Amino acid sequence: MTRIAIVTGAGQGIGEGIARQLVQDGLSVAVADMNEKNARNVADEIGNNSKGYYVDVSDKKSVFDLIDHVVADFGKLDVLVNNAGIAQIGTLLDTKEEDFDKIMNVNIKGVLFGIQAAAAQFKKQGTGGKIISASSIAGHQGFELLGPYSATKFAVRGLTQVAAQELAKDKITVNGYAPGIVLTKMWDQIDAEMAKIYNVPIGASLQKNIDSIALGRGETPADVANLVSFLADPKSDYITGQTIIVDGGIQF
Ligand code: NAI
Repeated sequence: MTRIAIVTGAGQGIGEGIARQLVQDGLSVAVADMNEKNARNVADEIGNNSKGYYVDVSDKKSVFDLIDHVVADFGKLDVLVNNAGIAQIGTLLDTKEEDFDKIMNVNIKGVLFGIQAAAAQFKKQGTGGKIISASSIAGHQGFELLGPYSATKFAVRGLTQVAAQELAKDKITVNGYAPGIVLTKMWDQIDAEMAKIYNVPIGASLQKNIDSIALGRGETPADVANLVSFLADPKSDYITGQTIIVDGGIQF
């Protein structure tokens, strides 16, 4: 029977790459994003009965509604990928409270709501399931000007470890992926803001970071998707509570 995955933030970037890979692995994917148009376009393109959905992961009701709609459409859920996330650039001293709250709401609360909603569905089904969430190398090492973002990505690792302990008895595994410098619109945004702050040309900050990658190239969404493919597959059934770095060997 075809396995069903939800990937949040899958209208572009890493999430889109993950959705593509999971379809290649034989799954049908609920492509969920705040940008519903992008989500629908990606779903139409990747096929295998994949479908686009609106979700705002920072809104608990929206996340629970998403799971209900997906289960109504496909009959069940096997995998949730909590991929949606946002970045902010700036010093801690300049961070405004409303900006801090916003990134916490999307990057941490979004993951919490996803864990809660998916676990409730997996328990109802009695099937077990897999929850996989986006952390970052910035969740292993604090990066200048990425303070609140780093804090959220450390927190994702914490939630992942605790959820893995609490949900193991229900045969639910909970893991994370921690990418490095992935060439998506998120990095375009980070690079543009770094250029302003450091008064350097566009592309200079990105290149400096790429120069620190042992494998000598920027990361692609497909590089991340290959790891998520494994974490979504029964081959990884004995792995839980882990956040695995996939960064081409960045030397801090
Ligand atoms: P991106 O900015 O290219 O795409 C993010 C997607 O999430 C967009 O389609 C956006 O519409 C959606 N989104 C944003 N807020 C949302 C919300 N509240 N509800 C639903 N969807 C929402 O980002 P990218 O690069 O693809 O990143 C994906 C994940 O990977 C994020 O969690 C990010 O923090 C993480 N990551 C990215 C790295 C990179 O170098 N690009 C490195 C490490 C982690």
